Amino acid sequence: MNGNLIELAPSILSADFAHLAEQVERAAAGGGTVVHVDVMDGHFVPNITIGPPVVKCLRQATRLPLDCHLMIEDPDLYIPEFAEAGADWISVHQEACRHLNRTLHLIKQHNCRAGVVINPATPVETLAEVLEIVDYVLVMSVNPGFGGQKFIPATLHKMRKLAEIRAERRYSYRIEVDGGVGMDTVADVVRAGAEILVAGNAVFGKGDAKVNAAALLEAAKAANLQRV
Ligand code: DX5
Ligand code: ZN
Repeated sequence: MNGNLIELAPSILSADFAHLAEQVERAAAGGGTVVHVDVMDGHFVPNITIGPPVVKCLRQATRLPLDCHLMIEDPDLYIPEFAEAGADWISVHQEACRHLNRTLHLIKQHNCRAGVVINPATPVETLAEVLEIVDYVLVMSVNPGFGGQKFIPATLHKMRKLAEIRAERRYSYRIEVDGGVGMDTVADVVRAGAEILVAGNAVFGKGDAKVNAAALLEAAKAANLQRV
């Protein structure tokens, strides 16, 4: 268990897609250690992004783990293809999975880390029966679909709760947060227990991704030291 290890996962959703490899490299140079890849199908969320071919190209462009966040219906149909393309971590939404246990096992069978995601309106309690088997839990702190949205503070208590449950039951999942994480919110999410910090706009929105990533990570680590 890496309870105290803070990692930054730059989300390429806000990157310049024409220069993806360079952008990922800049963010990695600033301390990003996981590449967050947002996959949207226009059904589960009102936006369409990228699929396995882009994951395959990214696989050639970076050695960092690729964290594929599937915001799609019927994820079981596509998990093998994402794994084949080079995904290291695959997360699925609780809200999109009729047979969540089966889907999480499917991810593991493809030798990927398995994550489960909850939308802002979904309580942690809905995960009670899968927390033991997941490698990470992703708490959405915006409604999924777009980068650059405003952080929803009412989601913080879910990160706290997940940290409590993990300690009580001696589970080993890591806690990831996604949406509206920036210089103004990073300390709050870290203090609440988030360990893998997804950031799109704050890293790639404006300026240099290396400088932005380094500043964000530094603020996150400082907040982690203040945790009691
Ligand atoms: C939103 C995506 C996020 C998005 C976060 O649906 O899941 O990963 O890229 O973007 P920011 O950090 O800009 O809120
Ligand atoms: Zn995401």
